[in-house]
Amino acid sequence: MNKHLKVIGIIIVIAMLFFAITGCQPAKKGKIVVGFSQIGAESAWRVANTESIQKEATKRPNIELKFSDAQQRQENQIKALRSFIAQKVDVIAFSPVVESGWEPVLKEAKAAEIPVILTDRAVDTNDDSLWVTFMGSDIVEEGRRAARWLVEYMKGQPANIVELQGTVGSAPAIDRKTGFEEILKDHPELKVIKSQTGEFTRSKGKEVMEAFLKAEGKNINVLFAHNDDMALGAIQAIEAYGLNPGKDIIIVSIDAVRGAFEAMIEGKLNCTVECSPLLGPQLFDAVDALMAGKTLERRIVTEEGVFPQEVAAETLPSRTY
Ligand code: AHR
Repeated sequence: MNKHLKVIGIIIVIAMLFFAITGCQPAKKGKIVVGFSQIGAESAWRVANTESIQKEATKRPNIELKFSDAQQRQENQIKALRSFIAQKVDVIAFSPVVESGWEPVLKEAKAAEIPVILTDRAVDTNDDSLWVTFMGSDIVEEGRRAARWLVEYMKGQPANIVELQGTVGSAPAIDRKTGFEEILKDHPELKVIKSQTGEFTRSKGKEVMEAFLKAEGKNINVLFAHNDDMALGAIQAIEAYGLNPGKDIIIVSIDAVRGAFEAMIEGKLNCTVECSPLLGPQLFDAVDALMAGKTLERRIVTEEGVFPQEVAAETLPSRTY
């Protein structure tokens, strides 16, 4: 065999071994096909998250996005992931509706050599090699931030708290509760007297708050809602009950959507903790890096703030979701 051909052959074999051993993939020519499975449209946050991902994809000529809406059902997300695998997409990304139950389908993606990116929510798997990176907020910290704000606001006064949790089994419902309780354990004067899921939706938030008020009435001093939408629903229930939200019942929630700022300006909500849904640019930067053979950080954390009522009016004009 010609000497040059031999050298080229050796280089190709070494490169193939490198990609096989490191799991890196050679840079791809043409469009990168990304399959994204979204949870649904349960909240203003989720709608903004979808918009961020879809808008960013259209700005990038090298990306083809296959988007699927699971309408809040894990089985629909699993179906979508299986269909992405069958279509041999280059990358799968998804925001898991609940934490558990993903291992089988993620193993199928791994066997098909399709890297998986988790956006916004974590999964609970025994094998961490089933996904390449998890990008999104520090959700436990969001719960801590809400509690720290409350501790400071209450200045040692005792209070009975009702809690509206997110979707049962979802990472933000579990982690926000954990973070909130972690801070409250050093403040026995602040007691959670009722805690129930409001499924991250405005209508369920309203319904559960009505039930809380029926059971506890004026005994309730504070509402902690795992998202703004549930807080906004609860505000309607509090007003219908004849109390003043933001005054008779202090309200702290999470997300920092525009509706929360409007409620703060009206004096009906006291504080919102930011959870940014604007993950589109980060997601496609990560996809590009992955396709260029780079290794991603296992955890990409989003920077976020806390917005009390006092800054609502000056901050609202700059809010984009
Ligand atoms: O996972 C993020 C959470 O999901 C947001 O706080 C909530 O509004 C959404 O539905």
